[in-house]
Amino acid sequence: MHRVPLEFTSENNGMSANVINKAFLATEEEFLSLVKKQWLNKPQIASVGACCLVGVVCSGVLYIANAGDSRVVLGRLERAIKDIKAVQLSYEHNASIESVREELHSLHPDDPHIVVLKHKVWRVKGLIQISRSIGDAYLKRAEFNREPLLAKFRLPEPFDKPILKSEPTILVQKLCPEDQFLIFASDGLWEHLSNQEAVDIVHSCPRNGIARKLLKAALCEAAKKREMRYSDLKKIDRGVRRHFHDDITVIVLFLDSNLVSRSSFRGPLISIKGGCGVSGNGKGGCGVSGNGNT
Ligand SMILES: *[C@@H]1O[C@H](CO)[C@@H](O)[C@H](O)[C@H]1NC(C)=O
Repeated sequence: MHRVPLEFTSENNGMSANVINKAFLATEEEFLSLVKKQWLNKPQIASVGACCLVGVVCSGVLYIANAGDSRVVLGRLERAIKDIKAVQLSYEHNASIESVREELHSLHPDDPHIVVLKHKVWRVKGLIQISRSIGDAYLKRAEFNREPLLAKFRLPEPFDKPILKSEPTILVQKLCPEDQFLIFASDGLWEHLSNQEAVDIVHSCPRNGIARKLLKAALCEAAKKREMRYSDLKKIDRGVRRHFHDDITVIVLFLDSNLVSRSSFRGPLISIKGGCGVSGNGKGGCGVSGNGNT
């Protein structure tokens, strides 16, 4: 899949929201064709989906594309008060948000049951909390909403247009020298840390290992809510721990304003390196994923 955005970039003579949109759609197409191939042997693959959050920095411009319930928060220096302010750059596609329900109703005007409140939780078709994703083929194409897929995923009536979207919401904005870093994280982190808490942690701690620090802060909060100690929470087996907190993925990208603004920068057009994994090299993104056991 890594090749796809590069191809689109050269076709389009540079980065744009359109390029990112095409990359999302290509990812979706590729995944749905995989579902089609495996449908007879592994029909449950039609119920598998993922959220997708993408950030691109190109010629001093930041592009954020989001489909699902992850979130990116910018840490911006406020010189007047010499402090760091959290600026949320993406919004979750979660049916618990009124504007998301409104969008669903406007996209499906003939279906009064496109979102339903069930056990105090809003769900699209009573099945899923998010309105956009990659995958979830059973809610994209009716051909996958039938046997042998498990009955709990099947809709009683056929549908002719996708119920969930894979197109991301895209934000394009010029970076300024006050923009210090970006925190990309799944909802597992934001469930336990506010935007400002996360930004304050990144601002006040050393860069190295900062994603792990955020992960630990979230786990400490999760433990506190259960009146447990962090060390006891960590001892719980991963599978069981799922009842205590969601999976947590974090990537922190530090923005070097000298590099971002240098228009003569002659590096590669785009980098496909992404997060540098748990060890971190202090240069670019530093990420951790999982539940803190590694
Ligand atoms: C959607 O939002 C609700 C309320 O904030 C939250 O409890 C739930 O975990 C969210 N669901 C997803 C899939 O992010």
